[in-house]
Amino acid sequence: MLKRVSIHGNWSSRMGFVLAATGAAVGLGNIWKFPYITGENGGGAFVLVYLACVVAVGLPVMIAEMVLGRRGRRNPIGTMKLLSEEESRSSAWRFVGWLGVATGMLILSYYSVVAGWTLSYTVESISGAFRDAGPEEVGAMFSGLLASPLTLLAWHTLFMGMTVFVVARGVQHGLEAAVRYLMPVLLVLLLVLVGYAMTTGHFMEGVHFLFDPDFSKLTPAAFMIALGQAFFTLSIGMGAIMAYGAYLPEDTAIAPTAATVVAADTTVALLAGLAIFPLVFANGLNPGEGPGLIFQTLPLAFGMMPGGVVFGTLFFLLLVVAAWTSAIGLIEPAVAYLVESRSMPRRRAALLIGGSIWLLGFATVFSFNVWSDLTVSIGDRAFTMFDGVEFFTSNIALPLGGLLIAVFAGWVMSKGSTLDEFERGASTGYATWRLLVRWVAPAALLIVFLQVTGLVDITNL
Ligand code: PHE
Repeated sequence: MLKRVSIHGNWSSRMGFVLAATGAAVGLGNIWKFPYITGENGGGAFVLVYLACVVAVGLPVMIAEMVLGRRGRRNPIGTMKLLSEEESRSSAWRFVGWLGVATGMLILSYYSVVAGWTLSYTVESISGAFRDAGPEEVGAMFSGLLASPLTLLAWHTLFMGMTVFVVARGVQHGLEAAVRYLMPVLLVLLLVLVGYAMTTGHFMEGVHFLFDPDFSKLTPAAFMIALGQAFFTLSIGMGAIMAYGAYLPEDTAIAPTAATVVAADTTVALLAGLAIFPLVFANGLNPGEGPGLIFQTLPLAFGMMPGGVVFGTLFFLLLVVAAWTSAIGLIEPAVAYLVESRSMPRRRAALLIGGSIWLLGFATVFSFNVWSDLTVSIGDRAFTMFDGVEFFTSNIALPLGGLLIAVFAGWVMSKGSTLDEFERGASTGYATWRLLVRWVAPAALLIVFLQVTGLVDITNL
C-alpha cells in the first residue's frame, strides 16, 4: 500500500471530504444554471439526457478523479506528473492538470459575477423590494442590475474577496463547518419553496415540464449542453475533486463516497427545478428566459408568501454560501499548485490567483452593458463574452478534461494501481467502474465532440 501524504494535511474524516466535495458540487450550477438551461432546452427530454450523463459519465469520472488525487496527494498538475512518471508514461499528461487549473480560473471569472447577483438580491430582499412585486417590476430590477457595470463590479469584488479570504486560510478551516451547518438549511429552504410552488395551482405543469420527455424538443446541441452541465454541476473535469481527493483519508471507500456526493447534488438540482417551473408557468413567464430565470421568478414567490422577507433573505444568503464553497473548489487547484510547486506562501498564492480572476471577471461584467454589442455569431446565436466563456468552459473544456482523466485512469494507469486505491475501505464495483471509465465515458464524450464538429448527428443515431 502506498503511503503518501499531502503537505496540506488531510480531511478530519471521510465526512470532511463529503462535505467539501458536496460544497463544491452544490452551487449556482444547481439552483441558477440547471433551471435556466433546462428551460432553454425544452424540459423533460433534456433532464433525462442530463441524468443519464450524471450516472454513466459523471460518477465514473468523479471516482477517477478521487483515485488519482489520493494516489498522487498533490495539486492536479503535480499529481498528473507524478502518476504518469510512476506508470512510466509521458509526463505530458501533466497538461491535463494545467488545463484544469486554467478552466477553473475561467469559470470562476464569471461565476463570481453571478454570485454577485445573489449578494445583491440578498440586500434587495432585506430592504423589502420584493414585497408584492409583479413580473414587470421584478424583471426591471434584474435588468437594472445588469445595466450598471459599477454595481456588478462592486459585488464581484466582494465575492472574490470572500473567496480569497477562505482559500488563504487553508481549505480545511471554515469550509467544513460552512457546509456542515448551512447546506442542510439550504435544503430545507428549497423544500419550503417547493411547498410554495404547490400552492400556485401550476405545480403539475412544472412537474410535466421537468419529467415528461418530449424528444422532438431535443436538439443536437442539447446533448453537449446536458453533458457539460453534468460536469459543471458535479465539479468534475477540472481537477477540483482531484485536489480534494488529495486530502482524502487513506482508508476511505471511494465509490460510495462519490455516489453520496452525486446523489446530494442531483437532488438539489431537481428540487430547484420543482420550485422554479411552477412559478414560471403561474406568472406567464418564458421558461427559456435565460440566465436571469431564477432572479425573475423567485422574488415573485418571496413577494407573495407570508414571511417572504425572512425566507427570501435567507435563501439568497444561503445561495451565496453555496456559491462560495463552490468558488473555493474552482480556485484551489491553482493555489495548491503555487504553494506546492513554487513554494509560495498560501496567502500570497490566493491573492495572486484571486486578483487575476477578478480582472478576468471584467469581461463578464461588461458583457451585460458596455460591451453587450460585442458578440460573435455562431449558427443562429450571438455570443457575448460571458456567453462565450460560459459555453467554452462548460461544454468544451470540462468534458475534454473529463475525457483525458477517464482515459488516464482507465488506460494509462495500471489495473494494479487503480484497484489498490479503489478497494480501500472495501469499495465494491471495481469491474463496473472500470468498464464505464474505459469505454462508456470516453465513447459518450467522443460522440459529443464529433457532434460538435458536425461529423456525427446524435439525433439520427
Ligand atoms: N459545481 C459547481 C456548481 O454547480 C461549480 C463548480 C465547477 C465548482 C467546477 C467547482 C469546480 O455551482
